[in-house]
Amino acid sequence: MKKVLILYASSTGNTEEIASLLEQHLDTKVLDITSKNLEMTEVDVKELKEYDGILFGTYTYDDGDLPFETDVFNDNLQNVDLNGKVIGLFGSGDTAYFQFCEAVDTMKNEFKCRGSIVIDHVVKVDLFPDEKEELDAIKELGFLFQKALSAHAIQSSS
Ligand SMILES: Cc1cc2nc3c(=O)[nH]c(=O)nc-3n(C[C@H](O)[C@H](O)[C@H](O)COP(=O)(O)O)c2cc1C
Repeated sequence: MKKVLILYASSTGNTEEIASLLEQHLDTKVLDITSKNLEMTEVDVKELKEYDGILFGTYTYDDGDLPFETDVFNDNLQNVDLNGKVIGLFGSGDTAYFQFCEAVDTMKNEFKCRGSIVIDHVVKVDLFPDEKEELDAIKELGFLFQKALSAHAIQSSS
């Protein structure tokens, strides 16, 4: 079984809903999934090394910034080597803001700098995930994430 962490920051529940939908698209027969809300739990970044893949979600705050809990997490991330981990990114924002879901792009770059295998397809949802394109994009991320995890398993064992 591959170990997967779904880790997210969500203040009003929109990003949490994306996390929950993503989880439904993952195959629990082959994946051991843990889900954590950064608002509720302190995450020791060293713990991330236990996982084969991480789906990371965040909402965006104040003109494209990382919200507080994502910012703290990101500061702690700076000294961690996540080489070879498969990472998928998602988040909710509001299209009324010029920097729509910019925190998702910021975290994508941060994970790339940690040596992770970052899936190019990111999910950006306008508030609550209810539009067909958004639901399709969430499903696609689940599919690509799982595919990358199994491709990496083949590479690692060969
Ligand atoms: C003060 C404030 C600033 C915000 N700034 C942005 C922003 O710059 N870009 C964006 O896309 N959304 C912005 N938002 C919208 C939130 O990201 C959006 O409401 C999101 O759905 C919250 O996700 P959550 O329910 O997971 O907490 C802002 C919201 C607030 C209250």
